[in-house]
Amino acid sequence: MCGIVGYIGKKNTKQILIDGLKELEYRGYDSAGIALLEGEKLEVYKAVGKIKNLEEKVLCNQICPAKDGTFSLGIGHTRWATHGKPTELNAHPHLGVYSYVVHNGIIENYKELKEELTNAGHNFVSQTDTEVIVHLFEYYFNQSNDAKLSFHQTIERLEGAYSILLITKSMPDSIFFMKHGSPLAIAKGNDDGEIYFASSDAPLIGLAHDVVYLEDGISGIASIDNLEFSDEVKWSILPSSKLFAQKDGFRFFMEKEIYEQKDVVVDTMMGRLKDNAIEFDELPPHILDGINEIKICACGTSFHAGLTASYLFERLTKIRCSVEIASEFRYKEPLLSKDTLFIVISQSGETADTLEALKMAKNGGLKSIAVCNVDNSSMTRVADATVLLRAGIEKGVASTKAFSTQTVVLWMMALYFGKIKGSIDNKKLQDELKTLKAVPNSLKVENSLHEKCRRLSKRYLHGHGFFFIGRDVFYPLALEGALKLKEISYLHAEGYPAGEMKHGPIALADPELFTIALMPQHLHYDKIKSNVEELSARDSTICAISPLPFELSDDFILTKETNHYMLEFFEMLVVLQLFSMEISVRLGNDVDMPRNLAKSVTVE
Ligand code: AGP
Repeated sequence: MCGIVGYIGKKNTKQILIDGLKELEYRGYDSAGIALLEGEKLEVYKAVGKIKNLEEKVLCNQICPAKDGTFSLGIGHTRWATHGKPTELNAHPHLGVYSYVVHNGIIENYKELKEELTNAGHNFVSQTDTEVIVHLFEYYFNQSNDAKLSFHQTIERLEGAYSILLITKSMPDSIFFMKHGSPLAIAKGNDDGEIYFASSDAPLIGLAHDVVYLEDGISGIASIDNLEFSDEVKWSILPSSKLFAQKDGFRFFMEKEIYEQKDVVVDTMMGRLKDNAIEFDELPPHILDGINEIKICACGTSFHAGLTASYLFERLTKIRCSVEIASEFRYKEPLLSKDTLFIVISQSGETADTLEALKMAKNGGLKSIAVCNVDNSSMTRVADATVLLRAGIEKGVASTKAFSTQTVVLWMMALYFGKIKGSIDNKKLQDELKTLKAVPNSLKVENSLHEKCRRLSKRYLHGHGFFFIGRDVFYPLALEGALKLKEISYLHAEGYPAGEMKHGPIALADPELFTIALMPQHLHYDKIKSNVEELSARDSTICAISPLPFELSDDFILTKETNHYMLEFFEMLVVLQLFSMEISVRLGNDVDMPRNLAKSVTVE
């Protein structure tokens, strides 16, 4: 999730921009930069890595030291790589000839625009989608000599999600802005005439009082003492706590990240889920040549995403697919064959066991893909290709949005491979694409559902353990639900294939055994129903999660009726995440940083 800041005023603009970027560090990034305009003088500073690297550059080789009292304006950015590696060239702000732009989001049609602008003589230096914005602006300005018109024409051409700040020598006293998809706030400074911009509240708190959280489609121009909006806007009062702001008002980062899933999954699909096809620019065209097997390797929650994907790969691509826990795979002296496509899944890209497994596959001559959330992490540097989740930083140790975006990436990959292999026809593909487009709605947290999970959680604070049961892809979902509960409540829980209960575990069935049963309407409902009835007959305490009412459970969480089991999958995922979090809250645990755990296990 990139971060944007901007300032117009008479203070030390460089320092204000850098301090603002520091307040956005919690969003995660891999490079940063600022650009300033003072009269006709444009300055830019960029650095890979932490903000302090940027600050050193500004302090060491600034063209001229900032002087308080001098009017200036500037924009700044922290980048979380989505298109192009984390390098200085790819860091924002991006320069045309006399203008700079910073951007948060994804320009879906950047390839077409880049080709058009290159043919018109514009030179590109980065691999990013963002760079097309500033060249498009200058392309129009060079024709019209009208900056306002040129900015309007530019934003009219963009497709995707984007929040933009643009400064230009052609209008040196103003900052152009646009909000569409990614967040952008504008605040009036405490000193007259100052204007601040930021992707979230944190950089604004203490510097301003009144703020506008721009709605989609609002653009405008800011200059000292003047703010023009393209439409009516609503002014609000800024919150007073920065930590509260970093969590966007939620109690925990985990809670924020559960609620964010419906939004980040849109970024995950953007540029890949087309109107009637799936595209993966990141994958080499002949990735499947000579491939007869897919092997997925991961740990923890990422392993559960891989296990989910194995059902989808075999169903949609008709390619044999196996899944390995990395810490086991490393030491089992695995048989590796070059007709196997090796896929590692990792939120951090640094998990030691998964990284070593990837190196083993690489050394064995296997083609490899890393499905990862952090560009430039170790796994992305080893794998032949990387598909980024674009989930933004995940701060909660208990993984949530990484799991949902991993599952969406792998589902899209299965469809992409299925089309290449000809194992799915166009009608099937179109049906699946339509279903994928409905995923954000399935991940949306309804207040009534959250309240139901919160109320129910009081009944599940003891007992001698939990079984989470499901069939097919709901079995790895059951594993994930059990892991979430274990991680943050410290209660014992197991995920189990529902059909396996009668092969031993049902011996534990009694009123003190809590069973969380995943009962989707569109996948083996009758089978799972009879498994749950077996448990109910032995007086196990059951909480059923289903779009269909079920009388034999002690508790019941009704999910929305949908037309595809994968939509039910994401509906139930949110329930499991909220249920675990609310139990943890009642037990007084540290939801974001549970005991004994680290966000990334970089040791064996
Ligand atoms: C999940 O909630 C846990 N934090 C843990 O199982 C995690 O998924 C596992 O350590 C793998 O991490 P990775 O995805 O960064 O490789």
